[in-house]
Amino acid sequence: MRSFEEYKNLIEEYILDYIPAVDEKSKVLKDSMEYSLLAGGKRLRPVLLLAACDYAGGRIEEAMPFACGLEFIHTYSLIHDDLPAMDDDDLRRGKPSNHKAFGEGIAILAGDALLNSAFEIMSKNMMMYFDKPEEVIKRVKAMHCIGKAAGVQGMIGGQTADLENEGKDSSESMLEYIHLNKTSALITSAIVAGLFMGGAPSEMVDRFRVYGENLGLAFQISDDILDVKGTTEELGKEVGSDESKDKFTYVTKYGLKKAEEKLKYHTDKAIRIINEHYKDASFFTSLAEELAKRAK
Ligand code: IPE
Ligand code: IPE
Ligand code: MG
Ligand code: MG
Ligand code: MG
Repeated sequence: MRSFEEYKNLIEEYILDYIPAVDEKSKVLKDSMEYSLLAGGKRLRPVLLLAACDYAGGRIEEAMPFACGLEFIHTYSLIHDDLPAMDDDDLRRGKPSNHKAFGEGIAILAGDALLNSAFEIMSKNMMMYFDKPEEVIKRVKAMHCIGKAAGVQGMIGGQTADLENEGKDSSESMLEYIHLNKTSALITSAIVAGLFMGGAPSEMVDRFRVYGENLGLAFQISDDILDVKGTTEELGKEVGSDESKDKFTYVTKYGLKKAEEKLKYHTDKAIRIINEHYKDASFFTSLAEELAKRAK
């Protein structure tokens, strides 16, 4: 296994190559896509995908189109999430949000372009393997799990409930639905798609799915905590955004202390399922610890 930094550097090296050729007449689209792709994201999801593939014994270079495709989808979700019709945030990854730099119309289109390009990239890769059905099968499974997690039964479903519950004090199960879908689904899909690419056995996929779900829940809770406790400099986005929009989060519903307990609960649960079954998977347990520390 490599370090988080090493996987991340590989992503940085390849990600721009996956932007499809853009005609000179619509050049602003390429500028807008590049602007957000290169704005300095943590690359958590594509790193998890490469690491999971590596851990299962696969070749990480082969997983690169899926890792970068997933980061395209995540980046699109942030561009749309920041739009005035959604969270209305002006700062992202330390720079003006895409719509502040390019205008709302181009920001919407750059998001659409990133989403569609992701599926173009992944399916193009599959076409290289038509003579090897078992390789095609791995890739179809990886793309299906990413597509599902990004869609109605994942991120879009969660984002819908997130908007619908602004200004409300809804149930705990609603909160869990929002977090599991808007954030945890895509994070889990990174791990599961990576395992598929590495040819992992099904019991490993099931256990890592539990890890991913809990890591994703912990990640969103820490994002909610950092929105209160963090600084604009360290986060690269405006703090206090959730309160000003009356968002329904663990922090707004239960307060900081309870949210911190919940963060610890899900972090411990993620670490436990890995430690119980895998002795050589410290990459994943350390990552869960590191991510939880951000909100300290
Ligand atoms: C932000 O995700 C959106 C959430 C799901 C909380 P990240 O915190 O991974 O954002 P980047 O990619 O590092 O900018
Ligand atoms: C994550 O939730 C939303 C996405 C799925 C894009 P937030 O709305 O809390 O993310 P930030 O805080 O704007 O990054
Ligand atoms: Mg949001
Ligand atoms: Mg937001
Ligand atoms: Mg947030």
